[in-house]
Amino acid sequence: MSSRRNFLRTTAGAGLGAATLGRFPFARELAAAPISRAGALRPVVIASANGLQAVERAMQTIQAGGDTIEAVVQGVNIVELDPQDNSVGYGGLPNEDGVVQLDASVMHGPTRGAGAVASLEGVKTPSRVAVAVMRYTDHVLLVGAGAREFARKLGFNVNEDLLTEDSRRRWLEWRASLSPDDDWISPEEAGAPPLRTGGRGAMADPRRDGERALLDSYDGLRPWGTINCNAVDRNGNISGVTTTSGLAWKIPGRVGDSPILGAGLYVDNDVGACGSTGRGEAVLKTVGSHTVVENMRRRMSPTDACLEALHRVVRWTVEKRLLGPDGRPNFNVNFYALNKNGDYGAAAIWSGSRFAVSVDGRAQLRDSAYLFQRA
Ligand code: GLY
Repeated sequence: MSSRRNFLRTTAGAGLGAATLGRFPFARELAAAPISRAGALRPVVIASANGLQAVERAMQTIQAGGDTIEAVVQGVNIVELDPQDNSVGYGGLPNEDGVVQLDASVMHGPTRGAGAVASLEGVKTPSRVAVAVMRYTDHVLLVGAGAREFARKLGFNVNEDLLTEDSRRRWLEWRASLSPDDDWISPEEAGAPPLRTGGRGAMADPRRDGERALLDSYDGLRPWGTINCNAVDRNGNISGVTTTSGLAWKIPGRVGDSPILGAGLYVDNDVGACGSTGRGEAVLKTVGSHTVVENMRRRMSPTDACLEALHRVVRWTVEKRLLGPDGRPNFNVNFYALNKNGDYGAAAIWSGSRFAVSVDGRAQLRDSAYLFQRA
């Protein structure tokens, strides 16, 4: 076993890499790809709009000398554990059976490490399980019961009830609105007083202003929500994490873009990082985050790199059910990117999206660039 490993290591590290590059016409471009840094630069942390506290925490960790992977994961843990955020971790909206299934991925630039989990039940912090996959296994992605059993062996509590009163109530309201011919009814139909739990009152409409900060995309009754967080430190080392409860009311086992490397997250320590929120199916089909990083490799700014990838998402959206009367997508996708130099940017298909960023410890929400202005 060890001699096989040694052979592979020697072959990869010596002539094979150069010889392989030489056969491709783009070898020169690939060889020139790493973005050079002009000395020590400021650390930067970027996240989706629900990550203001996350970027603050991540920046504190980096400034205290912590690794970027620990920084971004500590940041998103705040949101995963927040019962008020209906898009991630504890309190995330469940699948059509009322079960919360979580997806997450992490990438650590300096070691080219990666780990991910999908359809994980019973654990509040899937990002930490993804880190464990990266640290303690030879695999990248564990799913479902296998991921949960792995987490149990690692000492995670895998029997958490991830539904809050609010997310359970919203699932019940959704279930009751599905068909007049089934046996599910709303409290109103039952003549019962409306449920008023968790201080939120009747079923929240994700289009309301307050909800926009939490749910980055909305398609009729189907909210998607997610947090992505990426960081670069003073030495140009980069990490990223994306974690989500995925599409609300999804078919059990549905996996979105968040735990899929290249789709919901991609980190190349020579170039930069990108992650996504919004309609995962659209990002999966276009391998969105990888596209953004490759655009940055070709020297596009992070914002332009995101916009170009969004153009591709739009070109790939041909299904009538996904288009509005103006022929444009009736959903949103957001990308959040930074490069090795500490430049950063975010963009969405539709105007109105924001992102969180911390530069030198000052955390703020900023407007994302966009392709189309909302009416
Ligand atoms: N972007 C999150 C999801 O579609 O699951």
